[in-house]
Amino acid sequence: MDPIGVFDSGVGGLTVVSALRRRLPGESILYLGDTARLPYGSKSPDTVTRYTRKNLEFLSGRGVKAVVVACNTASALALPNLGPGEMPDVPIWGVIEPGARKAAEVSRGRVGVIATEASVRSDAYPRALRALRPELDIWSQACPLFVPLVEEGWHDDPITAQVAERYLRPLLDAGIDTLVLGCTHYPLIKDVLQRIAGPDVVLVDSAEQVAAMVAAGLAERHLEATHSPHHTFCVTDSGETFQRLARTILKDDGVELEWVEVV
Ligand code: DGL
Repeated sequence: MDPIGVFDSGVGGLTVVSALRRRLPGESILYLGDTARLPYGSKSPDTVTRYTRKNLEFLSGRGVKAVVVACNTASALALPNLGPGEMPDVPIWGVIEPGARKAAEVSRGRVGVIATEASVRSDAYPRALRALRPELDIWSQACPLFVPLVEEGWHDDPITAQVAERYLRPLLDAGIDTLVLGCTHYPLIKDVLQRIAGPDVVLVDSAEQVAAMVAAGLAERHLEATHSPHHTFCVTDSGETFQRLARTILKDDGVELEWVEVV
């Protein structure tokens, strides 16, 4: 049976893969980490759209039955720009909507959004949140140093904590009660973020919601897997650190990487 295609610029999308594997243990996953072009979060909408188009073409060429864009930056900047003719003819799900829905559900009224520079500039989360609850007060903060720290594997490190303290301070001073992790890399530093935000701030990571949405979407279209699962992990640049992190994140020592060219 065809796999579900999942892509991100790097290891961040594996937080979504992890949730998908828990929720849909019978499904095969074809993951693409576009490590040669990471980070996406500092790039323009045109560039991110071009990369996204190429990634979709790659996944579609490998016969996926659906795609999860496990990257908030690509979901925010590229998906709205791609016309139906430019998309593979399979269901495609982004990660903004599910995260916004969860935050709107749990917040007491004051929401902080942390994301890449490009995602913050796109205003995608505040727009999605206001569409659900117009009365919400929302503060956004770009955190460009988080992605390299996560890709380096410094997930629970004093330096990461120091950087996080600096980024979160304005949001915490504003009295947020909910913090949206608007980048799929950030759940990997969740422990540090929760420590700094304190126990009264609810951290929202969209991975579980995305997995639930995919499960429902596949069932609705009768696309569920019928064979035993097989997972493939592709990267566009050599990836020793990627492989080590992938094995840790997925708790799976069997993860091997395939190098691919996506041009
Ligand atoms: N993980 C991606 C996201 O969710 C972006 C990381 C990057 O900047 O490449 O936005």
